[in-house]
Amino acid sequence: MTTTVYLNGEYLPKSDAHISVDDRGFLLGDGVYEVTPFYEGVPFALERHIERMRHGLEWLRILFDISTLDAVNRELVRRNELEDADRALVYLQVTRGAAPRTHYFPAATVSPTVYAYAASWKRPPDETWLQGFRAITVPDRRWTRVDIKTIGLLPNVLAYQAAREAGVDDAILVRDGVAMEGAHQNFWAVINGKAVTHPKTNLILPGITRDIVVELAAEEGIEVEERAIVVEELVEAEELFFTGTTGEVRPCVEVDGHVVGDGAVGSVTRRLSDAFLRRVEHTKSMARAAAG
Ligand code: PDD
Repeated sequence: MTTTVYLNGEYLPKSDAHISVDDRGFLLGDGVYEVTPFYEGVPFALERHIERMRHGLEWLRILFDISTLDAVNRELVRRNELEDADRALVYLQVTRGAAPRTHYFPAATVSPTVYAYAASWKRPPDETWLQGFRAITVPDRRWTRVDIKTIGLLPNVLAYQAAREAGVDDAILVRDGVAMEGAHQNFWAVINGKAVTHPKTNLILPGITRDIVVELAAEEGIEVEERAIVVEELVEAEELFFTGTTGEVRPCVEVDGHVVGDGAVGSVTRRLSDAFLRRVEHTKSMARAAAG
């Protein structure tokens, strides 16, 4: 099947989608992106992803009307026949547009470049999930506005590549002795029975999955503490886990070769993961009921 993508107001075959070599996303990393999950064609927290993009565009002062984005997300899933896919995602990016390269903004007449595609993705098999995942710590070399989801991901790419080369599944980014987040997921520790995660400052991405897990923890009666996790705590923690759109709730059982807790996936991680999967099921049934 031909992949259909969205580019500047049009749905077209991926092979026909072209952008200018002057695009400021390409030349300068001048843009923002979002990744929204779909479960059997039903968007999950789409409005929160669009709101985060609206906030990023506003902060970067890219003038773009986000009102079309809800429809673009859904339409891409439909056109790519992903409505039955167990898991799919829509990647959407908006750059400041194409204009001869300058370090300042181009004229207001330059329109943003809007590109989106849909793809399926897979949750790891239960056996793999139940074994847990491994991570290494790496220095957090990012700038100080990583709460804005910009397309400039070089430090994240280098961190994740370091993890791959170390033969593990993710990297934990460490700034000033604090475990901030993963290369593409938020990071949590279970300490004295509490689920601890970094507060939503300018130094982490305010993950949508993170927010949902905070809500689920409250429903489950699991106390959440939003505070810095220092690296020394990683080996002492009862459990570690990541949260993110394509990771959902993902247990981490080893850091830098040290076993976490007893090396098995812990009960808090399991409860939050189960609650997350129930939330997904609930979202699907609500959407189906609304559609009649
Ligand atoms: N990554 N932290 C970072 C640095 C991220 O890049 C992401 C998302 C998250 C989790 O956010 P959310 O729960 O909203 O997906 C945290 C996306 C999926 C990516 O870059 O592919």
